[in-house]
Amino acid sequence: MDKIVVTGNGALSGQVPIAGAKNACLTLMPATLLSDEPLTLTNAPRLSDIKTMSTLLQSLGVEVSSLQDGKVLALASHDVNNLTAHYDIVRKMRASILVLGPLLARHGHAVVSLPGGCAIGARPVDLHLKALEAMGAEMDLREGYVHASAPGGLKGGRFTFPFVSVGATENALMAATLAKGTTVLENAAREPEIVDLARCLQKMGAQIDGEGTSTLTIQGVDRLHGATHPVVTDRIELGTYMLAPAICGGEIELLGGRRELIGAFCDKLDEAGIDVTDTENGLSVKRRSNAVHAVDVATAPFPGFPTDLQAQMMAVLCTAEGESVLEEKIFENRFMHAPELIRMGAQIDVQGGTAKVTGVPRLKGAPVMATDLRASVSLILAGLAAEGDTVVSRVYHLDRGYEHVEEKLSAVGAKIERIPE
Ligand code: UD1
Repeated sequence: MDKIVVTGNGALSGQVPIAGAKNACLTLMPATLLSDEPLTLTNAPRLSDIKTMSTLLQSLGVEVSSLQDGKVLALASHDVNNLTAHYDIVRKMRASILVLGPLLARHGHAVVSLPGGCAIGARPVDLHLKALEAMGAEMDLREGYVHASAPGGLKGGRFTFPFVSVGATENALMAATLAKGTTVLENAAREPEIVDLARCLQKMGAQIDGEGTSTLTIQGVDRLHGATHPVVTDRIELGTYMLAPAICGGEIELLGGRRELIGAFCDKLDEAGIDVTDTENGLSVKRRSNAVHAVDVATAPFPGFPTDLQAQMMAVLCTAEGESVLEEKIFENRFMHAPELIRMGAQIDVQGGTAKVTGVPRLKGAPVMATDLRASVSLILAGLAAEGDTVVSRVYHLDRGYEHVEEKLSAVGAKIERIPE
């Protein structure tokens, strides 16, 4: 397994291009299952999670062509010949559950293994199933698989999510596009990835109102057609690289960055003494003085502070002036990066879903282990500002969600290299 070695190298400067969003692409790809006409996605990120979704779709009979070095994905579902998503593929990635709604909506039947994914808490899929049941689906759980059927087709229904779920909203939204009648989804997720999915489905002929609000109204249509759609900018990759000059000093311009994707995060950076400026091509970030100030952070569904940036923010707060309190409200057990940061000299006290971080003047390089996708990049950020070498192992987590991380950081002056094993 590859390792990444990061050596603290002072201030950074230059530009970092931001890719298309992994999480948007992972829900746009299964949307192909809703139509027998081609779906082309441009601005796709080059990531192992995208390859896993391609493999899953191919196992169902979808034609997947990766063009322009992986930046364009051409998908065609005219010959779907298998309605079972097997455990072998699904266990690698939780987002695999997103084939359930589309398969069921178009074919009236689907069998999907219960997913695995990042080890950040229990992460059940009950809301996905309940939302589809509200559209008339019947669910049977047997031997680790969900057997879903809607023999006469899905029917429009009303479902109120008891709490916000991004994936369950996506599954229900896709399924509802082909259900007979009107579906109303309340307390739906409002993430930019949901808006992007709705826009793509609308191009395919779906009738959706309310995207970006907590009520989605979908008028089912008989069939959807092909479309070409650019994947929205990855706000999590954006936020991650915005934190590099926050922790190391210097100034970085994030090409393609947009403030509206990440408003609450920008507000928090401002509070911590980090300036975010709109530029012609994106956003530019630099800290106002030598150290950032401690801030309190509580994760929340969009438009709140994203849970997927909590680990990276913690890395920055490890060297802030004062004491910060981070509350993780979305996932249980999402502080696995804390013990690794402590190995680098950070002072962190985790009690349940709350972590108290007392800033220290400098972190020290150490061998550390990536435990999940966002944790892995938080250790790289910490390494950028640490004294000496930080060796991050298990970087396959990183490759799930960040393309060319070494190239992007080296280009702005970081000392970082991958050691293949
Ligand atoms: C998506 C993102 C992930 C991000 C998360 C929250 C993708 C591929 N992944 O994950 O990066 O961290 O949103 O922004 O887009 N839950 C249930 N039952 C369900 C579904 C969810 O209890 O049926 C719980 C989860 O365990 C979690 C919370 O609801 O505690 C929110 O999860 P959800 O929004 O569904 O996250 P994902 O869609 O899995």
